[in-house]
Amino acid sequence: MIQIAPSILAADFARLAEAIQMVEAGGADVIHVDVMDGHFVPNITMGPPVVASLRKATTLPFDVHLMIEEPDDYIPAFVEAGASWISVHVEACPHLDRTIELIRSFEISAGVVLNPATPLSSLDEVLRLVDYVLVMTVNPGFGGQKFIPYSLEKIQRLRKVIQHKRVPVKIEVDGGVGFDNVASLVQNGAEILVAGSQIFGTEDPAAAVRQFKELAERHAFDPQAIV
Ligand code: DX5
Ligand code: ZN
Repeated sequence: MIQIAPSILAADFARLAEAIQMVEAGGADVIHVDVMDGHFVPNITMGPPVVASLRKATTLPFDVHLMIEEPDDYIPAFVEAGASWISVHVEACPHLDRTIELIRSFEISAGVVLNPATPLSSLDEVLRLVDYVLVMTVNPGFGGQKFIPYSLEKIQRLRKVIQHKRVPVKIEVDGGVGFDNVASLVQNGAEILVAGSQIFGTEDPAAAVRQFKELAERHAFDPQAIV
């Protein structure tokens, strides 16, 4: 089943709880939380206190995407705040194995994130340790950017690697995901779709989630077809 992860980065920050409840009503599977520190990426967003407050507004899992330096220093606080999944950028983690182990030690889902220019080979040693790989399809830092076309082929290659290694790793995609490219994304193996502006930039975020789910299910990839 394809999972839809609305990114609250594109919501009204003064009404985040309402925004989450709207997409929950539309059938969202998980809430994507973009954490930026002004160092790893040129933008600043939110930290553990915001996640802790939002934890009371929904029962959906929180998918916390850390776009920060020194993530090990903050992972415990995000777990305490109610993160259900945490992903870290390989570019920000010189001791990636240790960071993944830290996330896993809290018995939550662990993910690694690749910037568009970071090769899949950087995952060779850690693919067996993670629950999901988040493939950035824009350069991180801002919502509302254009999908980078070459990342489609990268997703397809990652799907093949996962199949050949027979590891139960999911592929999440983030950046410029919209109704226009959902079919090609899921056909190439994406299973978790993050979308910000295409959901919260519309009049009816719940309807946008429903439309995503419908499109995704209609085009979902056939595992036999890709190998
Ligand atoms: C970008 C963030 C994304 C962002 C996606 O750095 O990681 O999650 O919210 O926004 P859209 O869907 O508008 O490209
Ligand atoms: Zn994100």
